[in-house]
Amino acid sequence: MNKKNIIVSGIQPSGELHIGNYLGALKNFVKLQTEDYACIFFIADLHSMTINYDTKEKAKQTMDLVLDYLAAGLDPEKSTIYIQSQVPVCTELTWVFNTVTPVAELERMTQFKDKTQKHTQNINVGLLDYPVLMAADILINRGNVIPVGQDQFQHVELTRKIARYFNNRFGQTFEEPKEVITNTPKIMSLADPTKKMSKSHGPKSYIAINDSPETIANKMKKAVSTTEYDKAVYDFYSTLLEEFGSTENQKYFAAQFKEKDIKFSELKKALAEDIAEYFKPFREKRAKLEKDPQYVREILKTGAAKAEKRAQETMKEVRKKIGLLN
Ligand code: ADP
Ligand code: TRP
Repeated sequence: MNKKNIIVSGIQPSGELHIGNYLGALKNFVKLQTEDYACIFFIADLHSMTINYDTKEKAKQTMDLVLDYLAAGLDPEKSTIYIQSQVPVCTELTWVFNTVTPVAELERMTQFKDKTQKHTQNINVGLLDYPVLMAADILINRGNVIPVGQDQFQHVELTRKIARYFNNRFGQTFEEPKEVITNTPKIMSLADPTKKMSKSHGPKSYIAINDSPETIANKMKKAVSTTEYDKAVYDFYSTLLEEFGSTENQKYFAAQFKEKDIKFSELKKALAEDIAEYFKPFREKRAKLEKDPQYVREILKTGAAKAEKRAQETMKEVRKKIGLLN
């Protein structure tokens, strides 16, 4: 890996990927690997343990996300793809970073505050420590360009501080990474266009990228509608049309949008077909990959080995700097 800029990013395996996740994260990952970066994309399974989960589901959710990564076009020849828990040395670096990170910095994090309000029965240390693990993911890979959604900005900012705390205490070791905020529209919920589309609002509120054309048609049929002009509803559909609509449909409905006189039943039907068509190659590739688990396992094994090598090099330097007996 000789390329100067190193991209590191990950997604948590906590359910189906929806079209918002696709536009906000995965689509961008696929594009970045064709640019002049070394790319490292992983599945953040350890992060996803910080809220209650079903142990029987986790392995499947993880494999599903791997299939989504590959079917969407992440290419193991171009990117290092691995599962976070399969390179456990990042948790060792997390511990080291824990010893230089002030608790107050973690208590300030917006996501921590939100999650402690939402998951009052399970306010665990992992929830607080989450950004430190994220800093370890980034810095163990020497990542310096971090593509994330707006909600993760604060965590990358904290990663810079952690790099600084470490460097000040133990000597210059880590470069401070920069975030690239993905400049994609926020996709809103099918059920309520004032809320963001999210796994946590249930499958009726989103279109999963692996939904069948029938499911997409059904979900769209039940999606919000209005007989009067409602800006949120109009914006919701015009965004989807811009992202997924055929040129023909974009032109046709743009005229209706302009007049603020949309025939929603007609629009929803056309949009459902366009979204299904947009993800057709994805579904086909995914179905093929699903039938070849051996091939997918091989990719993950190679990815983990590559990441492990890189991570051990960083840890070697860290162990020396912090003064452990070797
Ligand atoms: P969810 O709310 O569905 O659980 P996450 O918070 O796990 O999604 O986010 C995973 C990635 O997808 C992040 O990069 C986030 O910025 C992006 N993302 C999530 N929801 C949306 C949305 N509605 N529109 C655009 N991007 C989104
Ligand atoms: N916390 C991120 C999210 O929920 C996922 C993540 C974990 C990540 N480690 C990372 C993203 C390192 C970028 C870099 O979206």
